[in-house]
Amino acid sequence: MNAKTIIPKSNLKGEVTVPGDKSISHRSIMLGSLACGTSEITNFLKGSDCIATMNCFRQMGIEIKESQGHIFVTGKGLRGLKAPASILEVENSGTTTRLLSGILAAQKFPSILSGDSSLNRRPMERIMTPLKEMGGTIYSIKNNGCAPLKIEPGTLHGIDYVSKVASAQVKSALLLAGLYTHEETTVTEPTLSRNHTELMLQGYGHDVQTQKNSDGSYSISLTGAKELQPQKIDIPGDISSAAYLIGAALLTKNSELLIQNVGLNETRSGFIDVIQKMKGNIQVLNESISGGEKRGDILVSSSELEGIEIGGDVIPRLIDEIPMIAVLAATAKGTTVIKDARELKIKETNRIDTVSKNLSKMKGNVIPTEDGMIIEGVEQLEGASINSHFDHRIAMAFAIAGLAARGNTTILDSKCIDVSYPDFWNVI
Ligand code: S3P
Repeated sequence: MNAKTIIPKSNLKGEVTVPGDKSISHRSIMLGSLACGTSEITNFLKGSDCIATMNCFRQMGIEIKESQGHIFVTGKGLRGLKAPASILEVENSGTTTRLLSGILAAQKFPSILSGDSSLNRRPMERIMTPLKEMGGTIYSIKNNGCAPLKIEPGTLHGIDYVSKVASAQVKSALLLAGLYTHEETTVTEPTLSRNHTELMLQGYGHDVQTQKNSDGSYSISLTGAKELQPQKIDIPGDISSAAYLIGAALLTKNSELLIQNVGLNETRSGFIDVIQKMKGNIQVLNESISGGEKRGDILVSSSELEGIEIGGDVIPRLIDEIPMIAVLAATAKGTTVIKDARELKIKETNRIDTVSKNLSKMKGNVIPTEDGMIIEGVEQLEGASINSHFDHRIAMAFAIAGLAARGNTTILDSKCIDVSYPDFWNVI
């Protein structure tokens, strides 16, 4: 069960850094493996999701070494991967599964991707359908639209695909598949999802066009069949991990934290906008840009938060932070409405469900809805026994809730935080 007990605290003070961004870490291994030569990566996240990506590429013959905290990936070009000897284990990682599927659909060898019980319940039709349209052969072995996925050798062609969801995993799978075609591949999404793949591809010397359409949707295009040049990549801290430390400073009394070197890409920084709207004391300092990715320091202190409405275009910019936002809303003054967030249902757990049930256990006032939650602020949460359901973001968000609750809180199956923030318990 590896349970952790959280004892309420105040006076959290200090300067901290958070581990490297998970989305960017995955992409650095993937593009590094497809480039012609050695890429050097600093501040790579050694969480179990990104290690799963590393292991998959090692299984396909890519040399990935570590020296003094830097990762060196020696890519062999777009056509340099070799057939894996066994199943590619993607563990808990949706990003590995979906992005890698895009690459594998274009290979000259067959492969099988399989994950843990949570991953193997998540929907994969959203990538299988467009990859088949591109000429790929990919199917769900159990015929239930989920992994394990079998991918046969394929020759792909470009498509113009309109995605119903703003999903960076769908967009990235198709752009990576598009690298293997001689034509243009265009993905249109209802609003802009995280654009790390586009930015990193540009860093690797590949032209990618992003266009905002008159109906508010975005179209992202590239033309394939061009080799990538190796790069040096310095990964900023993960704003999704910083969110828990920000939450801790906001909720506990007499606290002030400076969180250094946090990624602030506009497609990811919705959490900061929301905290500002909730009247949180938060400031961004020392902004800079590296590899196309904005970064900066975040200064945050104890705050009296106010409930707000959160929906529309901001949702993809903070989707992974919603468990933390819900915890903050639980003791904010007034009502918080979270809507347009149906995607929460297909994350590592159904997060509308797991957040609502756990908040209720802590005597929060929450009504789950079809596409979000309605949360009425209460004076203080009460310590409880929290079932993480092996979802890293549930474990961490409720650990922070526990810091500001009345009485102790226990987080069951606490080791799941290894997925994105292995050092979380020590830092806390
Ligand atoms: C991710 C995209 C998002 C996000 C996930 C990581 C990525 O998922 O929730 O944690 O790295 O591309 P969707 O693409 O399903 O929205």
